[in-house]
Amino acid sequence: MAWPRPPGASVAPLAGGFGARLQLDGQSYEIRYGPGQDFETPEDFFAPCRAALREPCEEMLRVVEALGVLESLQLDAHGTLRVALPFCGSMQELPILAHFLATRCSGRQGVAKISILASDVQDWAPLGGYWKQKETYVKRWYPHMDLKFCQLDLHALRHPPSSLTFAFHPECTVHRDLWRRILHNVISASAVCIVCTFNDEERKVVLGVCQDLGRQAQCQRNPYYANSKQNGTTPPFLNFLILVR
Ligand SMILES: C[S@@+](CC[C@H](N)C(=O)[O-])C[C@H]1O[C@@H](n2cnc3c(N)ncnc32)[C@H](O)[C@@H]1O
Repeated sequence: MAWPRPPGASVAPLAGGFGARLQLDGQSYEIRYGPGQDFETPEDFFAPCRAALREPCEEMLRVVEALGVLESLQLDAHGTLRVALPFCGSMQELPILAHFLATRCSGRQGVAKISILASDVQDWAPLGGYWKQKETYVKRWYPHMDLKFCQLDLHALRHPPSSLTFAFHPECTVHRDLWRRILHNVISASAVCIVCTFNDEERKVVLGVCQDLGRQAQCQRNPYYANSKQNGTTPPFLNFLILVR
C-alpha cells in the first residue's frame, strides 16, 4: 500500500528518489522519498494514523458535518478560517483533520485560507509528536492552509480567538479545577468548539463549563462505538462529542 496521500495528490514518477517499507495495522506501506514523493526526505517522515484512531475520527467528523457546523463559520477580514487544536499532544489524527478541512471548508463560503494553531503545554516534538514534520506536511500538500504547533499553557492563558476548535480529550476528571480553567480558556475563545471526551464523567465536566459560560452545548456519542468494532482503543478515542456554539 502507498502512504495515504491527500486525495487528488498525484504521485510523481520515482526519479532519483528512494523508498522504505512500514508495517501498520497488518498492512505494508511503501514510503517514497524525493521530489514529488510522499516525503521530500526521510527527516520529513511520520507514520500514518492507525485505523483505531482514524476510523472514530472520520466518523466524528461526519457527525460534525451533519450537525451543520461548517455552514456558518466565522472568517476574518481576509477570509481566513482560524482553527484551534488546543492540548493537542502528538496530534496523530492531523492528516485526517487537514483533509477534512481542505475538502469541506476550503474555497467554500468565502474561506480563502485555513490557519491552524495546534498547542500543548508540553513540547511533543521530541516525544514522538513529529510537530515539525506535520507542519511541513501541511505546507507541502495544502497550499491554502498553514499549521503551526506551539507550547501554550492554557491554564495560565486564554487561547487566541478561533472560529473552529477541536479540543480532544481534556483530562478533566483528574485535576478538575485546573481543567475547568483550561476548558474555560479554550471554549470562551472559540466561536464553535468541538470537545471530545473518552467518557461520560468528562463530558459532564465539559458541560458544566459550558453552562458557566452561558454557551449552548449539544452532546452525542460517536456512532463509531454503536457497533462492536474490532478496531477501538481503550479508553475509546473520541467517544463523546460535545458541540459548543
Ligand atoms: C489526554 S492528553 C490529550 C492529548 C490529545 N488531545 C489527544 O487527544 O490525544 C491531554 C493533554 O493536555 C495537555 N495539557 C495538560 N495541561 C495543559 C495546560 N495547562 N495547557 C495546555 N495543555 C495542557 C497535556 O500535555 C496532554 O498532551
